[in-house]
Amino acid sequence: MKITAILSALAAATLVSAGKFHLPKDNTVELQPHGYIIQYQDNISRANAHSNLKKHAIDYKVRNEYDVFNGAAITVKSDHDGEAIASVPGVKHVWRIQRYSLPKTTSNGGGKVDEENSVHHMTGVDAVHKKLKLTGKGVKVGIVDSGIDYKHPAFAAAGATEGCFARYGKNCRVKHGWDFVGDAYTSFNTPIPDGDPMDCRGHGTHVAGIVGGNASNIKVGPTPLVPWIGVAPDVTFGAYRIFGCEGFTSTDVILAAMEMAFNDGMDIINMSLGGGSAYKENPTSILADKLVSFGMNVAGAAGNDGSEGVWMVSDTGLGETSTSVASFDNAYGAYYTVSYAGGKYPYNFSSAWGKAIDLPASATLFPLFDKAGVLLDGCDVNTYKDLDVKGKVVLVLGDYSKCGSFARGEVAKSVGAAGILAATTPFGMTNLAGAPGLPMASIENRAGQAILAAYKKNPKNVLTWAKGPSSVRVEGGGAPAEMSSYGLDGDLRSKPDIAAPGGNIYGAYPRSKGSYALLSGTSMATPYYVGSQALYYEKTKTKPSGPDVRRVFKNTATISKNFQSKTFTSAAKQGAGLINVWNALTTTTHASPDRFDLLDSDNFRGVQKITIKNSGKKTETYTLSHVPADALNSYSKGNAWPHPKPIIEADYATVKFSSNKVKIPAGKSVKVTITFTEPKVGDAKQFPIYSGYVVATPSREDSPAVHVPYIGLKGKVRDVPIMDSDLGLPMAGVRKENGDIEEIPKDFVFNFKDAAPAVVVRFASHTPNFTIRIHDAKTDKFLGYVVSGSDIALGAMGRMTNLNDGKYSSATFSWRGLVLQTADLTSKPVQLGAGSYKIFVASQRKLTKGAYPADYEIFDMGIFNVSA
Ligand SMILES: *[C@@H]1O[C@H](CO)[C@@H](O)[C@H](O)[C@H]1NC(C)=O
Ligand SMILES: *[C@@H]1O[C@H](CO)[C@@H](O)[C@H](O)[C@H]1NC(C)=O
Ligand SMILES: *[C@@H]1O[C@H](CO)[C@@H](O)[C@H](O)[C@H]1NC(C)=O
Ligand SMILES: *[C@@H]1O[C@H](CO)[C@@H](O)[C@H](O)[C@H]1NC(C)=O
Ligand SMILES: *[C@@H]1O[C@H](CO)[C@@H](O)[C@H](O)[C@H]1NC(C)=O
Repeated sequence: MKITAILSALAAATLVSAGKFHLPKDNTVELQPHGYIIQYQDNISRANAHSNLKKHAIDYKVRNEYDVFNGAAITVKSDHDGEAIASVPGVKHVWRIQRYSLPKTTSNGGGKVDEENSVHHMTGVDAVHKKLKLTGKGVKVGIVDSGIDYKHPAFAAAGATEGCFARYGKNCRVKHGWDFVGDAYTSFNTPIPDGDPMDCRGHGTHVAGIVGGNASNIKVGPTPLVPWIGVAPDVTFGAYRIFGCEGFTSTDVILAAMEMAFNDGMDIINMSLGGGSAYKENPTSILADKLVSFGMNVAGAAGNDGSEGVWMVSDTGLGETSTSVASFDNAYGAYYTVSYAGGKYPYNFSSAWGKAIDLPASATLFPLFDKAGVLLDGCDVNTYKDLDVKGKVVLVLGDYSKCGSFARGEVAKSVGAAGILAATTPFGMTNLAGAPGLPMASIENRAGQAILAAYKKNPKNVLTWAKGPSSVRVEGGGAPAEMSSYGLDGDLRSKPDIAAPGGNIYGAYPRSKGSYALLSGTSMATPYYVGSQALYYEKTKTKPSGPDVRRVFKNTATISKNFQSKTFTSAAKQGAGLINVWNALTTTTHASPDRFDLLDSDNFRGVQKITIKNSGKKTETYTLSHVPADALNSYSKGNAWPHPKPIIEADYATVKFSSNKVKIPAGKSVKVTITFTEPKVGDAKQFPIYSGYVVATPSREDSPAVHVPYIGLKGKVRDVPIMDSDLGLPMAGVRKENGDIEEIPKDFVFNFKDAAPAVVVRFASHTPNFTIRIHDAKTDKFLGYVVSGSDIALGAMGRMTNLNDGKYSSATFSWRGLVLQTADLTSKPVQLGAGSYKIFVASQRKLTKGAYPADYEIFDMGIFNVSA
């Protein structure tokens, strides 16, 4: 589609005359000085918009112009602010330009551990490759990221040994691309675009490798630990580079890149940047929704804030039509292994040893256990008394509470042991320092127990050490990743949507940085989902809309449990479950909608309808059932700040169906009414988030069951704390000239120059409308909303992370007397003079209509006497 066609298609949209200036989220958001994104009304042409801006004396420079998104990014002279721009006729929305970082990923430093195609066993992609022979051929995927090392051999076309970029070569897998910023760009300087999207950072190359790298037969450069292949190894790529070699990027660049990806005909893009939690009304999710409506598909990472507790899902996947992707840990990893009595066990050698262990068969096993047969930790040399462990490999308990790996290594050396295997507590493997000169390794707890049991049966078994790494299942893997963010969003919509493998993913890395790396994050899960969509497009030979594809994948995902848990993980963490690509591509059953948002007790939507469609060739009978999942309690202690680790409660809705069994002829669908009743156990005052799944199981065994997740909140969400009062916030202080906020001395008289009132706030959960209101202290008359610098304390805010750069996150509004007298953002702020004022911090409660004061959480900050 041409851009001109899009513009005319939009002309009929409804319009509002006054623009809206959006408050930046909080102090954890970095802003581009004097930078704004403007969205024009849909019927305004670019030329008219510019002439309106000029007519209204806005002095600006254009940073970027957009077409798909009817708007521009501009830099203004310092004395203009957001609401001045919003008041220009034809302007619909104004946002401050934000800086984005690449999402944090954790790395093992480049290639000790590998992840091979076994990750595809978790998702059925192995079967799709093998039986359906699908590889994403003909599908174009746009990577909006740090670029791609397109010369990496994992991106070589068939028959070639090295990758290339179509602008410089022929038959290249990276066909499109652009560098919007240049190597030196940090977002604090001017972008210097060029045509070459080479990656000097790593993130984009790794992401592209997950979508469609192929390292199955590498002939040049370093070889991977274990051969691996991406989800869709025949897609072609567009590489849209929005990051320099260091630093951040900004909204204007992201929008430009998304637009070029669209114009290049990309079928799918995903971009997941380090954004916080927010409302869906942000420029990237608005543009994402728009691109989806033009037939593109946009996926975003749920975020890596799992350690923050609920309400943290990040904004890039929050568009109504885009997909928010959560992360699971890889169930597999590449490790050196030791075999014993028929079992093969991964081990992680100590850093002091630093290489694979290679001991002769004569170095036999010697487990160190007590009279009860339980493994000992080997910290105390006396436990070796009267035992002959000379030349043997000692098996001990890897519990490091009494002594570290160095100490127990030295003890073992002193009694002449040939090596140590330490069975980690409570599970998994760990990094050991170890003692110099001693072969020492960490093994999984279950491996230690299995080896011990085998020894007790037959002490003559021999240890065999493998020469190279191989891919094995790891203890604790295959479950929802701890770091993956929890939903819901501020409107209680059930986000994230779905999960994909994102923890411990081995893949491509720039050649300049070692060629391969193991990374973790929802950033790795998003491209897995994107690659899976490419397979779906290839299979169906159509390009269903983003929401349709999302529904199919959600219907067929695998509902999963946390490691060692007997119950299913909350849908606020795993969404519909772990993606199952085989089921998605082969299912003949479809269920819609793709989620039930039951909302809270006040707004409870207990009666829902599910439509089940049989797209198979035969009549089918489906049984409906309910699969409950964990409820999450984040407020059991009367706290305002949610627990970083929600408490799991066994509590869920009861679910009744208008029919428990339905018979559906081929090609037909049937509607069933579902009646949900709120859970019984949970304490409504603690706002537990409960969830589960409505499942339709076909009677034939060869067709998978499908499901729809539901989520609700027991209690009144309007009572969920918004301000973090646990830390005594919001708090008022004095803003000194040097910027510090100080406590208010007794009987203090403020002025609007060097002793201005300042309010410090901290958002424990979302609010649709945050305000700081000024009232006359004597008459209590409302005088206006605080205008602080270029920000007005009026607008939606998302939840904050607990810490920012090691300090508690917070936002400070200092008030130098400027107020906006009405909520009309196009009105001119007014300067108040000397007087006596009351300040109220008032946040609209979630899911309310916003009547003041009834629908607000209000903190009275007291009386402020201001002198001239
Ligand atoms: C755009 O549409 C609005 C509402 O329909 C109308 O008031 C306005 O005059 C239109 N502007 C232009 C430039 O056509
Ligand atoms: C991956 O690369 C290998 C080696 O070049 C090639 O033989 C194989 O066909 C490729 N696989 C796919 C699915 O493209
Ligand atoms: C294995 O050890 C290495 C280095 O000692 C470490 O980086 C890595 O995280 C360890 N792997 C696991 C699974 O603990
Ligand atoms: C997919 O998402 C990651 C982060 O989740 C992002 O960095 C990357 O640009 C996206 N990849 C694609 C295929 O666009
Ligand atoms: C915030 O509240 C004011 C006053 O009630 C209202 O006029 C304005 O539209 C609200 N803003 C949002 C984003 O709801």
